[in-house]
Amino acid sequence: MSTYYLTTPIYYVTAKPHLGHAYTTIIGDALARWHRLLGDDVHFLTGTDEHGQKVLDYAEAAGKSAQAFVDEIAPLYEQAWRRLNISNDDFIRTTEARHKLGVGELLQRCYDAGDIELDLYKGKYCVACEEYYTDDELDPGDLCKIHKRPVVYSEEENYFFRLSRFEQRLLDWYAAHPGAIVPEFRSNEALGLIRGGLRDFSVSRTSLKWGIPLPWDAKHVAYVWFDALANYITAIGFGSGDETEFKKWWPARHLIGKDIIRHHCVYWPAMLISAGIEPPAGYAVGGWLLSDGEKMSKTSGNVINPLDLIDDIGLDGFRYYVLAETAYGQDGDFTYEGLIARYNSDLANNLGNLLSRVATVVDKKCKGISPAPRADSPLAAAAATAYAATAEGWDAVQPSRALDATWQLIRATNAYLEANEPWKGEPGPAVDAVMGDALEALRIIAILASPAVPATSQIVWQRLGLSGDVTDQRLPAAAQWGGYPGGLPVVKGDPLFPRR
Ligand code: MSP
Repeated sequence: MSTYYLTTPIYYVTAKPHLGHAYTTIIGDALARWHRLLGDDVHFLTGTDEHGQKVLDYAEAAGKSAQAFVDEIAPLYEQAWRRLNISNDDFIRTTEARHKLGVGELLQRCYDAGDIELDLYKGKYCVACEEYYTDDELDPGDLCKIHKRPVVYSEEENYFFRLSRFEQRLLDWYAAHPGAIVPEFRSNEALGLIRGGLRDFSVSRTSLKWGIPLPWDAKHVAYVWFDALANYITAIGFGSGDETEFKKWWPARHLIGKDIIRHHCVYWPAMLISAGIEPPAGYAVGGWLLSDGEKMSKTSGNVINPLDLIDDIGLDGFRYYVLAETAYGQDGDFTYEGLIARYNSDLANNLGNLLSRVATVVDKKCKGISPAPRADSPLAAAAATAYAATAEGWDAVQPSRALDATWQLIRATNAYLEANEPWKGEPGPAVDAVMGDALEALRIIAILASPAVPATSQIVWQRLGLSGDVTDQRLPAAAQWGGYPGGLPVVKGDPLFPRR
């Protein structure tokens, strides 16, 4: 069994989760679920990023201590992920003891390797990014390009990570690991950053108190990105004294947004190499989900709460939209009209309609008991093609492509029913043959769609009279044509997705 360790970025606990956070987390969840279907031993991690100036500023504005503030916000993420049916195996908070231990160990290793040194820093800092910028990286008037807010000048003694020493080692590593960053055009972006020349970056602050102290100089706390990136190893026991889990799972595959490529694809592997740890196995870089053409953020005031959308359209309607609407890697634009249009076309008219037709005809013409599929069904080839293309889509971290391939089988099955019109035929072998084929297609569809719409897939599974859990099926065997036994009671239930 191969291990598959997948992570999302850890989210700043400055505010409750919004659609942009839900987006990356749902992509991760669907991928984790797909790999569990493949029989991989999956470990799916998400969590919260709780240190740094930005969090401290929000806590102060709320009139709370930093700890009290993060203790209030972090559970909102855990709760939101439960409601979104996110199947994470662990949730890391950077204020946890296990994390602090591991960060200390990572820092110490880089320090001992001679890659962290003391220096004086003078520069302009964007608090919202938690990042120093040079003049040419800023908009006129010293505004941060992302937040359009003024940066602050700061001058202090900092420890620096000697990133400049890692240029060639990083280029060599990427050359030896083609495809480590998908999609391809994001890979070019990361390599461009490295080829453009690497500057040392500051890894500590003396002015900031809300963070993890450096093990060898407690006046300094670790730069929030050094602290945050380490979550991917501290969560699996790095620095805890027992490295069994760490050895089992590392290296991870990271899901990240396009705004954090530099930290993940440049800083992070260099930090790991310095500490004698293998770089991550790969990265899938997503674009932003925009609302009103802008990145959703509390600062921009265009925040959409994912939980409101679930109340409105239902859990799986929302999950499906997020996964199917945008090609991963590109920016997507969230619109309410788009959400409703997807829901009506793909869920109500295609999947929902297929199940309800099949259950109705089996009820009327087959006494509610399922006929078995034919080995030589005309739908068998469509099912094989759909499986192959679905697998290819998930493998490339292109959920929209994977789902389109699965939905091809739904469309093919609906077309097959329309061509044969079993609802018009007399009960008997001809109708049974068509219905057995349609039921078998639905069984395969339920499995292939389950990473995106797990609750719905389980309902389809049960209505087909199948026992157990759809998520316990194992691919590729479970997608082989002919697995549906026949002779099962088919349940006619409420519409899965009432039209909107
Ligand atoms: N805390 C850092 C990440 C540390 S990871 C070691 C951070 N947090 S964040 O909450 O601001 O953003 C986390 C991720 O969510 C980023 O990858 C970011 O791209 C993604 N998104 C935040 N808003 C988003 C959208 N509107 N759309 C898509 N993704 C968005 O950065």
